[in-house]
Amino acid sequence: MVQKITVSVIKADVGSVCGHTRPHPSMLDKCRENLADGVKQGILEDFYVTRVGDDINLFMTHYKGENSKDVHELAWNSFLDAAKVAKSMKLYGAGQDLLSDSFSGNIRGAGPGSAEMEFAERDSEPILFFMADKTEPSAYSLPLSRIYLDPFTTTGLVIDARAKKGFDFEVHDVMSHKKVTMSSPEETLSILSLLGDTSRYAIKKVFSRAGLGTAAVVSTDKLNLTAGKYVGKDDPVCVCRAQSGLPSVGEYLQPFMNTMLVAGWMRGSHYGAFFPCSPDHSDPTYFDGPPRICCLGFQLCNGHLQGLESIGSKAGVHTPMDFFANSEWDTARNNAVKASKFMRSHGPFMPAILGPEEMEYTSRPEVLNALKKRFEDIE
Ligand code: 13P
Ligand code: 13P
Ligand code: MG
Ligand code: MG
Repeated sequence: MVQKITVSVIKADVGSVCGHTRPHPSMLDKCRENLADGVKQGILEDFYVTRVGDDINLFMTHYKGENSKDVHELAWNSFLDAAKVAKSMKLYGAGQDLLSDSFSGNIRGAGPGSAEMEFAERDSEPILFFMADKTEPSAYSLPLSRIYLDPFTTTGLVIDARAKKGFDFEVHDVMSHKKVTMSSPEETLSILSLLGDTSRYAIKKVFSRAGLGTAAVVSTDKLNLTAGKYVGKDDPVCVCRAQSGLPSVGEYLQPFMNTMLVAGWMRGSHYGAFFPCSPDHSDPTYFDGPPRICCLGFQLCNGHLQGLESIGSKAGVHTPMDFFANSEWDTARNNAVKASKFMRSHGPFMPAILGPEEMEYTSRPEVLNALKKRFEDIE
Protein backbone atom coordinates (compact mmCIF):
# COMPACT_ATOMS: atom_id res chain seq x y z
CA MET A 1 0.00 0.00 0.00
CA VAL A 2 1.20 3.51 -0.80
CA GLN A 3 2.15 5.51 2.28
CA LYS A 4 -0.23 8.37 3.02
CA ILE A 5 1.09 11.91 2.87
CA THR A 6 0.27 14.52 5.52
CA VAL A 7 -0.07 18.21 4.73
CA SER A 8 0.29 20.35 7.86
CA VAL A 9 -0.06 24.09 8.16
CA ILE A 10 0.98 25.57 11.47
CA LYS A 11 0.77 29.32 11.90
CA ALA A 12 1.43 31.96 14.51
CA ASP A 13 1.84 35.69 14.98
CA VAL A 14 5.15 36.15 16.79
CA GLY A 15 5.68 39.83 16.10
CA SER A 16 5.41 42.46 13.39
CA VAL A 17 6.80 45.83 12.31
CA CYS A 18 4.86 48.93 13.42
CA GLY A 19 1.68 47.43 14.88
CA HIS A 20 -0.10 44.29 13.63
CA THR A 21 1.21 44.53 10.07
CA ARG A 22 3.80 42.08 8.78
CA PRO A 23 6.61 39.97 10.23
CA HIS A 24 10.16 41.16 9.55
CA PRO A 25 11.69 39.22 6.60
CA SER A 26 14.44 37.88 8.88
CA MET A 27 11.76 36.11 10.94
CA LEU A 28 10.56 34.24 7.85
CA ASP A 29 14.19 33.43 6.99
CA LYS A 30 14.68 32.00 10.49
CA CYS A 31 11.67 29.72 9.96
CA ARG A 32 13.03 28.64 6.55
CA GLU A 33 16.38 27.72 8.17
CA ASN A 34 14.61 25.62 10.79
CA LEU A 35 12.37 23.81 8.31
CA ALA A 36 15.30 23.17 5.93
CA ASP A 37 16.96 21.46 8.92
CA GLY A 38 13.74 19.50 9.38
CA VAL A 39 14.10 18.18 5.82
CA LYS A 40 17.74 17.23 6.47
CA GLN A 41 16.71 15.37 9.63
CA GLY A 42 14.10 13.43 7.65
CA ILE A 43 11.11 14.94 9.47
CA LEU A 44 9.74 16.86 6.49
CA GLU A 45 9.56 16.09 2.78
CA ASP A 46 9.04 19.70 1.75
CA PHE A 47 7.85 23.08 3.05
CA TYR A 48 6.92 26.63 2.12
CA VAL A 49 7.09 29.60 4.48
CA THR A 50 4.82 32.57 3.84
CA ARG A 51 2.65 35.04 5.70
CA VAL A 52 -0.70 36.79 5.65
CA GLY A 53 -0.65 40.16 7.39
CA ASP A 54 1.27 39.62 10.64
CA ASP A 55 0.86 35.81 10.70
CA ILE A 56 3.67 33.45 9.69
CA ASN A 57 2.37 30.31 7.95
CA LEU A 58 4.43 27.14 7.71
CA PHE A 59 3.18 24.77 4.98
CA MET A 60 4.76 21.34 5.54
CA THR A 61 4.51 17.94 3.87
CA HIS A 62 5.64 14.74 5.59
CA TYR A 63 4.90 11.06 6.23
CA LYS A 64 4.64 11.39 10.03
CA GLY A 65 0.83 11.64 10.22
CA GLU A 66 -1.37 14.24 11.89
CA ASN A 67 -0.33 15.48 15.36
CA SER A 68 3.27 14.32 14.93
CA LYS A 69 5.40 15.42 17.88
CA ASP A 70 8.43 15.87 15.59
CA VAL A 71 6.57 18.12 13.16
CA HIS A 72 4.86 20.17 15.88
CA GLU A 73 8.13 20.61 17.77
CA LEU A 74 9.88 21.77 14.60
CA ALA A 75 7.16 24.39 14.03
CA TRP A 76 7.21 25.43 17.70
CA ASN A 77 10.99 25.89 17.68
CA SER A 78 10.77 27.85 14.41
CA PHE A 79 8.28 30.25 16.00
CA LEU A 80 10.39 30.49 19.17
CA ASP A 81 13.44 31.44 17.08
CA ALA A 82 11.40 33.92 14.99
CA ALA A 83 10.05 35.45 18.22
CA LYS A 84 13.64 35.83 19.50
CA VAL A 85 14.48 37.76 16.32
CA ALA A 86 11.33 39.88 16.82
CA LYS A 87 12.23 40.57 20.46
CA SER A 88 15.77 41.61 19.51
CA MET A 89 14.22 44.31 17.27
CA LYS A 90 11.52 45.18 19.85
CA LEU A 91 8.86 44.41 17.23
CA TYR A 92 5.20 44.73 18.06
CA GLY A 93 3.57 41.73 19.74
CA ALA A 94 6.86 39.76 19.76
CA GLY A 95 5.99 36.22 20.84
CA GLN A 96 2.25 37.11 20.90
CA ASP A 97 0.88 33.64 20.10
CA LEU A 98 3.36 31.57 22.13
CA LEU A 99 1.30 31.07 25.25
CA SER A 100 3.25 28.28 26.85
CA ASP A 101 6.77 28.38 28.33
CA SER A 102 7.74 25.01 26.97
CA PHE A 103 6.68 22.52 24.29
CA SER A 104 4.48 19.75 25.62
CA GLY A 105 4.35 17.37 22.64
CA ASN A 106 1.64 19.05 20.56
CA ILE A 107 1.19 22.59 19.33
CA ARG A 108 -2.58 22.52 20.00
CA GLY A 109 -3.48 24.54 23.05
CA ALA A 110 -0.09 26.28 23.05
CA GLY A 111 -1.16 29.27 20.94
CA PRO A 112 -0.31 28.61 17.27
CA GLY A 113 -3.09 27.41 14.93
CA SER A 114 -2.88 24.13 13.03
CA ALA A 115 -4.70 22.46 10.15
CA GLU A 116 -3.53 19.01 9.09
CA MET A 117 -4.77 16.29 6.77
CA GLU A 118 -3.44 12.84 5.93
CA PHE A 119 -4.54 11.24 2.65
CA ALA A 120 -3.53 9.01 -0.22
CA GLU A 121 -1.94 11.24 -2.87
CA ARG A 122 -3.85 10.91 -6.17
CA ASP A 123 -2.30 10.84 -9.66
CA SER A 124 -2.91 14.57 -9.76
CA GLU A 125 -3.40 16.38 -6.48
CA PRO A 126 -4.12 20.14 -6.63
CA ILE A 127 -4.02 21.73 -3.15
CA LEU A 128 -5.24 25.16 -2.10
CA PHE A 129 -3.99 26.95 0.99
CA PHE A 130 -6.30 29.71 2.21
CA MET A 131 -4.83 32.05 4.85
CA ALA A 132 -6.72 34.79 6.69
CA ASP A 133 -5.64 37.63 8.96
CA LYS A 134 -7.76 39.69 11.40
CA THR A 135 -10.54 37.13 11.69
CA GLU A 136 -11.64 33.82 13.23
CA PRO A 137 -12.07 30.16 12.11
CA SER A 138 -15.81 30.47 11.51
CA ALA A 139 -15.05 33.07 8.80
CA TYR A 140 -14.60 30.03 6.50
CA SER A 141 -18.06 28.64 7.30
CA LEU A 142 -19.94 30.79 4.79
CA PRO A 143 -17.60 30.25 1.82
CA LEU A 144 -17.18 26.51 2.59
CA SER A 145 -20.97 26.16 2.85
CA ARG A 146 -21.35 27.74 -0.56
CA ILE A 147 -18.61 25.48 -1.95
CA TYR A 148 -19.85 22.13 -0.57
CA LEU A 149 -23.57 22.70 -0.01
CA ASP A 150 -24.79 25.06 -2.72
CA PRO A 151 -25.27 23.68 -6.25
CA PHE A 152 -25.85 27.23 -7.49
CA THR A 153 -22.23 27.92 -6.49
CA THR A 154 -20.62 24.56 -7.22
CA THR A 155 -22.13 23.09 -10.38
CA GLY A 156 -19.90 20.06 -9.73
CA LEU A 157 -22.33 19.03 -6.96
CA VAL A 158 -24.82 18.41 -9.77
CA ILE A 159 -22.69 17.26 -12.70
CA ASP A 160 -19.79 15.35 -11.07
CA ALA A 161 -21.12 11.92 -10.02
CA ARG A 162 -18.67 11.63 -7.10
CA ALA A 163 -19.22 15.17 -5.77
CA LYS A 164 -22.97 14.51 -6.06
CA LYS A 165 -22.64 11.81 -3.34
CA GLY A 166 -22.16 14.71 -0.91
CA PHE A 167 -19.79 15.47 1.94
CA ASP A 168 -19.51 14.82 5.67
CA PHE A 169 -18.90 17.86 7.87
CA GLU A 170 -17.11 17.74 11.22
CA VAL A 171 -18.57 20.78 12.99
CA HIS A 172 -16.95 22.05 16.19
CA ASP A 173 -18.65 23.86 18.99
CA VAL A 174 -15.63 26.01 19.89
CA MET A 175 -17.11 27.12 23.20
CA SER A 176 -17.92 23.72 24.72
CA HIS A 177 -15.17 21.72 22.94
CA LYS A 178 -17.66 19.29 21.40
CA LYS A 179 -17.90 18.04 17.82
CA VAL A 180 -20.54 16.49 15.62
CA THR A 181 -20.38 14.96 12.12
CA MET A 182 -23.27 15.74 9.77
CA SER A 183 -23.89 14.72 6.15
CA SER A 184 -24.85 16.69 3.07
CA PRO A 185 -27.04 16.80 1.09
CA GLU A 186 -29.58 15.22 3.53
CA GLU A 187 -28.72 17.42 6.51
CA THR A 188 -27.83 20.58 4.62
CA LEU A 189 -30.36 22.78 6.36
CA SER A 190 -29.47 21.45 9.82
CA ILE A 191 -25.77 22.00 9.10
CA LEU A 192 -26.55 25.60 8.15
CA SER A 193 -28.68 26.01 11.27
CA LEU A 194 -25.52 25.45 13.36
CA LEU A 195 -22.95 27.18 11.14
CA GLY A 196 -25.02 30.36 10.91
CA ASP A 197 -23.99 31.04 14.53
CA THR A 198 -20.41 32.04 13.76
CA SER A 199 -19.70 32.90 17.39
CA ARG A 200 -19.97 29.25 18.41
CA TYR A 201 -19.77 26.79 15.51
CA ALA A 202 -17.08 26.30 12.90
CA ILE A 203 -16.24 23.69 10.27
CA LYS A 204 -13.16 21.68 11.28
CA LYS A 205 -13.07 19.12 8.45
CA VAL A 206 -14.96 18.14 5.33
CA PHE A 207 -14.79 14.56 4.01
CA SER A 208 -15.69 13.16 0.59
CA ARG A 209 -18.52 10.60 0.65
CA ALA A 210 -17.12 9.10 -2.56
CA GLY A 211 -14.08 7.61 -0.81
CA LEU A 212 -11.57 10.36 -1.63
CA GLY A 213 -10.78 11.10 2.04
CA THR A 214 -10.46 14.51 3.65
CA ALA A 215 -11.43 17.36 1.33
CA ALA A 216 -10.76 20.34 3.62
CA VAL A 217 -9.44 21.19 7.07
CA VAL A 218 -9.60 24.46 9.01
CA SER A 219 -7.52 25.59 12.01
CA THR A 220 -10.01 26.07 14.84
CA ASP A 221 -7.73 26.67 17.81
CA LYS A 222 -9.60 29.43 19.56
CA LEU A 223 -7.04 31.54 21.36
CA ASN A 224 -9.48 32.99 23.88
CA LEU A 225 -10.14 29.53 25.28
CA THR A 226 -6.55 28.40 24.92
CA ALA A 227 -5.29 31.22 27.06
CA GLY A 228 -8.15 31.22 29.54
CA LYS A 229 -8.75 34.81 28.55
CA TYR A 230 -9.25 36.52 25.23
CA VAL A 231 -5.85 37.17 23.64
CA GLY A 232 -6.73 37.46 19.99
CA LYS A 233 -8.60 36.12 17.03
CA ASP A 234 -7.07 33.04 15.43
CA ASP A 235 -6.36 34.32 11.91
CA PRO A 236 -7.21 30.86 10.57
CA VAL A 237 -5.93 28.75 7.68
CA CYS A 238 -7.90 26.31 5.54
CA VAL A 239 -6.35 23.60 3.35
CA CYS A 240 -8.45 22.13 0.50
CA ARG A 241 -7.91 19.35 -2.05
CA ALA A 242 -9.45 20.04 -5.46
CA GLN A 243 -10.82 18.48 -8.70
CA SER A 244 -11.96 15.00 -9.76
CA GLY A 245 -14.81 14.27 -7.33
CA LEU A 246 -14.00 17.31 -5.18
CA PRO A 247 -14.86 20.94 -5.97
CA SER A 248 -12.69 22.33 -8.76
CA VAL A 249 -10.12 25.06 -8.07
CA GLY A 250 -12.44 27.62 -9.67
CA GLU A 251 -15.40 26.45 -7.60
CA TYR A 252 -13.34 26.93 -4.43
CA LEU A 253 -12.37 30.48 -5.40
CA GLN A 254 -15.70 31.73 -6.69
CA PRO A 255 -17.44 32.53 -3.33
CA PHE A 256 -14.72 35.03 -2.48
CA MET A 257 -16.04 37.30 -5.24
CA ASN A 258 -18.97 37.97 -2.86
CA THR A 259 -18.63 40.54 -0.10
CA MET A 260 -18.64 38.80 3.30
CA LEU A 261 -18.47 40.37 6.74
CA VAL A 262 -16.22 38.51 9.17
CA ALA A 263 -15.40 39.08 12.84
CA GLY A 264 -12.02 40.06 14.25
CA TRP A 265 -10.89 43.30 12.67
CA MET A 266 -9.26 46.05 14.81
CA ARG A 267 -8.47 44.96 18.35
CA GLY A 268 -10.20 41.67 17.50
CA SER A 269 -13.45 43.46 18.19
CA HIS A 270 -15.01 44.59 14.89
CA TYR A 271 -16.76 43.28 11.79
CA GLY A 272 -15.15 44.04 8.43
CA ALA A 273 -15.34 42.56 4.93
CA PHE A 274 -12.98 39.88 3.59
CA PHE A 275 -10.42 41.49 1.24
CA PRO A 276 -9.01 38.86 -1.18
CA CYS A 277 -5.39 39.59 -2.14
CA SER A 278 -1.88 38.28 -2.68
CA PRO A 279 0.27 37.73 0.46
CA ASP A 280 2.41 40.59 -0.93
CA HIS A 281 -0.60 42.89 -0.52
CA SER A 282 -1.78 41.55 2.79
CA ASP A 283 -0.44 44.34 5.03
CA PRO A 284 -3.46 45.58 6.98
CA THR A 285 -3.38 49.33 6.40
CA TYR A 286 -6.96 50.63 6.85
CA PHE A 287 -8.11 50.45 10.51
CA ASP A 288 -5.79 47.40 10.82
CA GLY A 289 -7.58 45.72 7.90
CA PRO A 290 -9.86 45.00 6.22
CA PRO A 291 -9.52 41.29 7.13
CA ARG A 292 -7.31 39.62 4.52
CA ILE A 293 -7.88 36.36 2.69
CA CYS A 294 -5.12 34.89 0.47
CA CYS A 295 -5.08 31.67 -1.54
CA LEU A 296 -1.94 29.89 -2.72
CA GLY A 297 -1.99 26.74 -4.86
CA PHE A 298 0.39 23.83 -5.44
CA GLN A 299 0.34 20.41 -7.05
CA LEU A 300 1.50 17.66 -4.75
CA CYS A 301 4.15 15.47 -6.40
CA ASN A 302 5.24 12.40 -4.41
CA GLY A 303 5.08 14.35 -1.18
CA HIS A 304 6.69 17.49 -2.62
CA LEU A 305 5.10 20.83 -3.34
CA GLN A 306 5.22 21.67 -7.04
CA GLY A 307 4.58 25.28 -8.02
CA LEU A 308 5.93 27.36 -10.91
CA GLU A 309 9.61 26.86 -9.93
CA SER A 310 11.85 24.58 -11.95
CA ILE A 311 11.53 20.83 -11.62
CA GLY A 312 13.48 19.35 -8.73
CA SER A 313 14.15 22.72 -7.08
CA LYS A 314 15.33 22.69 -3.45
CA ALA A 315 12.83 21.91 -0.68
CA GLY A 316 11.24 25.13 0.53
CA VAL A 317 12.07 27.10 -2.63
CA HIS A 318 8.76 27.54 -4.42
CA THR A 319 6.58 29.86 -6.48
CA PRO A 320 2.96 28.91 -5.81
CA MET A 321 -0.05 29.98 -7.84
CA ASP A 322 -1.21 33.19 -6.17
CA PHE A 323 -4.93 33.13 -6.92
CA PHE A 324 -6.14 36.47 -5.57
CA ALA A 325 -3.27 38.46 -7.13
CA ASN A 326 -5.03 38.96 -10.48
CA SER A 327 -7.03 42.02 -11.46
CA GLU A 328 -10.40 40.25 -11.70
CA TRP A 329 -10.38 40.38 -7.88
CA ASP A 330 -10.19 44.22 -7.94
CA THR A 331 -14.00 44.33 -7.90
CA ALA A 332 -14.14 42.13 -4.80
CA ARG A 333 -11.44 44.27 -3.16
CA ASN A 334 -13.27 47.54 -3.95
CA ASN A 335 -16.51 46.08 -2.61
CA ALA A 336 -14.71 44.91 0.56
CA VAL A 337 -13.38 48.43 1.20
CA LYS A 338 -16.85 49.92 0.55
CA ALA A 339 -18.53 47.45 2.94
CA SER A 340 -15.83 47.95 5.57
CA LYS A 341 -16.17 51.73 5.30
CA PHE A 342 -19.94 51.37 5.75
CA MET A 343 -19.34 49.33 8.93
CA ARG A 344 -16.92 52.02 10.17
CA SER A 345 -19.65 54.62 9.84
CA HIS A 346 -21.20 53.00 12.96
CA GLY A 347 -18.14 53.85 15.08
CA PRO A 348 -18.25 52.02 18.44
CA PHE A 349 -21.84 50.81 17.92
CA MET A 350 -23.02 47.31 17.03
CA PRO A 351 -23.02 45.88 14.38
CA ALA A 352 -19.62 47.51 13.74
CA ILE A 353 -18.37 46.05 17.03
CA LEU A 354 -18.90 42.41 18.01
CA GLY A 355 -21.37 41.15 20.58
CA PRO A 356 -20.22 41.46 24.22
CA GLU A 357 -19.00 37.83 24.55
CA GLU A 358 -16.79 38.10 21.49
CA MET A 359 -15.11 41.43 22.20
CA GLU A 360 -11.37 41.05 22.65
CA TYR A 361 -11.24 44.40 24.45
CA THR A 362 -13.96 45.77 26.69
CA SER A 363 -14.12 48.38 29.42
CA ARG A 364 -17.67 47.38 30.31
CA PRO A 365 -17.00 45.50 33.61
CA GLU A 366 -15.11 48.52 34.95
CA VAL A 367 -17.81 50.93 33.81
CA LEU A 368 -20.56 48.80 35.37
CA ASN A 369 -18.59 48.41 38.57
CA ALA A 370 -18.12 52.16 38.92
CA LEU A 371 -21.86 52.70 38.32
CA LYS A 372 -23.02 49.96 40.72
CA LYS A 373 -24.41 52.33 43.31
CA ARG A 374 -25.92 54.68 40.76
CA PHE A 375 -28.16 52.12 39.03
CA GLU A 376 -31.78 52.31 40.27
CA ASP A 377 -34.87 50.23 39.50
CA ILE A 378 -37.08 51.61 36.74
CA GLU A 379 -40.58 52.25 38.04
P1 13P B 1 -10.18 20.83 -17.85
O1 13P B 1 -11.10 20.11 -18.80
O2 13P B 1 -9.48 22.03 -18.47
O3 13P B 1 -9.30 19.92 -17.08
O4 13P B 1 -11.13 21.52 -16.73
C1 13P B 1 -12.01 20.78 -15.98
C2 13P B 1 -12.47 21.55 -14.82
O5 13P B 1 -12.78 20.98 -13.82
C3 13P B 1 -12.53 23.02 -14.87
O6 13P B 1 -13.16 23.51 -13.74
P1 13P C 1 -3.70 40.18 15.06
O1 13P C 1 -4.64 39.17 15.68
O2 13P C 1 -3.55 39.99 13.59
O3 13P C 1 -2.42 40.25 15.82
O4 13P C 1 -4.41 41.61 15.19
C1 13P C 1 -4.78 42.07 16.42
C2 13P C 1 -5.46 43.39 16.42
O5 13P C 1 -6.09 43.70 17.39
C3 13P C 1 -5.37 44.27 15.26
O6 13P C 1 -6.09 45.47 15.47
MG1 MG D 1 -0.56 40.78 15.63
MG1 MG E 1 -2.80 38.37 12.62
